[in-house]
Amino acid sequence: MAFSFQYLLLLLFFASPSSAKHSFRPKALVLPVTKDASTLQYVTQIHQRTPLIPVNLVLDLGGQFLWVDCARKYKSSTFRPAHCESAQCSLADSSSCSFCDSPGCNNNTCSVMPDNTVTHTGTFGIVAQDIVSVRSTNGFNPGRTVAVPRFIFSCAPTFLLKGLAKGVSGMAGLGRTKIAFPSQLASTLNFHKKFAICLTSYSKGVVFFGDSPYVFLPNVNAAQGLIHTPLIINPVSTASAFFQGQPSSEYFIGVQSIKIDQKVVSNINKKLLSINKKGYGGTKISTVNPYTVLEASIFKAVTEAFIGARNYTRVAAVAPFEVCFDSHNVGSTRLGPAVPTIELVLQNNVSWFIFGANSVVAVKDNNVLCLGVVNGGKNPRTSIVIGGYQLENNLVQFDLASSRLGFSSLLFGRMTTCANFNFTSAL
Ligand SMILES: *[C@@H]1O[C@H](CO)[C@@H](O)[C@H](O)[C@H]1NC(C)=O
Ligand SMILES: *[C@@H]1O[C@H](CO)[C@@H](O)[C@H](O)[C@H]1NC(C)=O
Ligand SMILES: *[C@@H]1O[C@H](CO)[C@@H](O)[C@H](O)[C@H]1NC(C)=O
Ligand SMILES: *[C@@H]1O[C@H](CO)[C@@H](O)[C@H](O)[C@H]1NC(C)=O
Repeated sequence: MAFSFQYLLLLLFFASPSSAKHSFRPKALVLPVTKDASTLQYVTQIHQRTPLIPVNLVLDLGGQFLWVDCARKYKSSTFRPAHCESAQCSLADSSSCSFCDSPGCNNNTCSVMPDNTVTHTGTFGIVAQDIVSVRSTNGFNPGRTVAVPRFIFSCAPTFLLKGLAKGVSGMAGLGRTKIAFPSQLASTLNFHKKFAICLTSYSKGVVFFGDSPYVFLPNVNAAQGLIHTPLIINPVSTASAFFQGQPSSEYFIGVQSIKIDQKVVSNINKKLLSINKKGYGGTKISTVNPYTVLEASIFKAVTEAFIGARNYTRVAAVAPFEVCFDSHNVGSTRLGPAVPTIELVLQNNVSWFIFGANSVVAVKDNNVLCLGVVNGGKNPRTSIVIGGYQLENNLVQFDLASSRLGFSSLLFGRMTTCANFNFTSAL
């Protein structure tokens, strides 16, 4: 008996070399993020295909999935289109079956609608699978590389890249779908459905998939002391093109009011702060908007309160900003220029404080400061879009299982920045 049991083990071992190779179970993964200076887009890098090559992608926090240009230079021996009615198609929430003429495809391939969320262009693209590899982490350093053999993504035509940073070949969607990076990685690798972003405009920021610690030099675990507020689902898709009935894959939170230097900004129409039946209104977080966008009446109320709080003398606007003032007599603090603090009061009665480093942008050789928000006009789809500049050097965690957002506030207050993850491998 003992002998045959051993024999069986041996057989199993030799029969499944790949499962032995993949038995390493990481608790978290890490991706680097840099900011493209000309487009202000945040760009990350994964490795994909066989043989593996680096693929640069625009980071799209609310994006539905990974999409890449497969029409140009896509060569891979492990590329597999997803057959209609397969498990992959249903995970991808595809409701269409199409003809496809890219290499390796056939008449029986399902498709979805990849979205360039920068230019608001959506199109059809097939669902496919290929190997993706990402570095694991213990929260302190990157560790060994983890391969996900059949990562589901969508193939887009080359024209969809228009408007994206130079050198990228698609977008990395981190939204609320089953095949976006957070859920697909968590379910394939069996770790917590949580991820965190920490963006910065210099050097390298970071995305963590999985649970904390998220440690930045000198040994600051930014996951400690996070403030939490519920994540809200917008029932109507905010994508450029979508199948009817799909909810939005973006992350919404409930701003209840806005304060400037602790004073409530009056004149904000509360109706604009909630999401109506048609999916209009509310507040979302976006990495494809470089600056926060406010609906016109909110923009007016907030900018007037901001200027009024210190009687700043306005100077000529510097596009894309409308509200600029002389930077002389504005002191500086650890948290950036000493300007009025903007406070977003959220559900759970917690506040997201926006200090000088995230609220104003220095222009004209630092002689002028502009409030780093832009006017979204009347009747935009979403009333408040918290953009990249306001997120920088704040750790923001998305806990999908308990549908809540955690934020650290500006890390400068803890003597670190999002550029301080130690990317030197511990191996
Ligand atoms: C796809 O289907 C059409 C019609 O059924 C057929 O004429 C064509 O040859 C098929 N193409 C491929 C690549 O299978
Ligand atoms: C701003 O200036 C006005 C008129 O000059 C003055 O009445 C007001 O007190 C000032 N407010 C602040 C906050 O300094
Ligand atoms: C919300 O919190 C603030 C300060 O933390 C407190 O002054 C206020 O009373 C609270 N409001 C509610 C409705 O709990
Ligand atoms: C970064 O991590 C590496 C590997 O653990 C370590 O050798 C190095 O000292 C760390 N860098 C700093 C600045 O602590």
